[in-house]
Amino acid sequence: SKNVVILISGRGSNMEAIINAAIPEARIAAVIANRADAAGLGFGQARGIATAVVDHKAFASREAFDAELATVIDGYAPDLVVLAGFMRVLTPDFVAHYAGRLINIHPSLLPSFPGLHTHARALESGVKLHGASVHFVTADLDCGPIIIQAAVPVCDDDDEKALSARVLAQEHRIYPQAVRWFVEGRVELAAGRARIRDAESGAEGWS
Ligand code: GAR
Repeated sequence: SKNVVILISGRGSNMEAIINAAIPEARIAAVIANRADAAGLGFGQARGIATAVVDHKAFASREAFDAELATVIDGYAPDLVVLAGFMRVLTPDFVAHYAGRLINIHPSLLPSFPGLHTHARALESGVKLHGASVHFVTADLDCGPIIIQAAVPVCDDDDEKALSARVLAQEHRIYPQAVRWFVEGRVELAAGRARIRDAESGAEGWS
């Protein structure tokens, strides 16, 4: 099986979805947070998963934080590092160190709405479809090759809360799916693209 390290900053509901999916090939080696008060740490502990905190506020620079974070992550020999609501921008050195084995979920249909406040911006813009994307992390924020997306309708009476809940339900479906594909060797970063292999048919495609 493959060692998976999950990074969180808060609630950790995507982390929960991945753990609850009980993916046979995925061994959840650790949950690491950049805040001691990240609510999701308790869930990991309750499941007997190793947890750690690397508090970004204890470091003078992004480089110093990322270096310590990588040291802690590498202590768990990860095959895959999963950003699940991890709200820190990572340095190019960190991203390069995990090239091809670092994935993120973003609450929009990328390349629309990179960055923060995606649901409010979707409502403001008047789009009729919104959603979530799982992508390989590259040095450019929220711009890496897309592995899987889910779209939801934007309804006339939506507010941020209603829309974010509709998207989050899809996040909880597609993130475990992406992790499953990765640990089964069905998705890889190749030539700057997410290459998805269909295990059933053997067909290959480019997302
Ligand atoms: C999720 O909606 C995730 O897509 C988003 O934060 C939320 C975390 O929820 N991530 C980002 O905005 C990344 N920039 P969770 O802690 O319950 O998984």
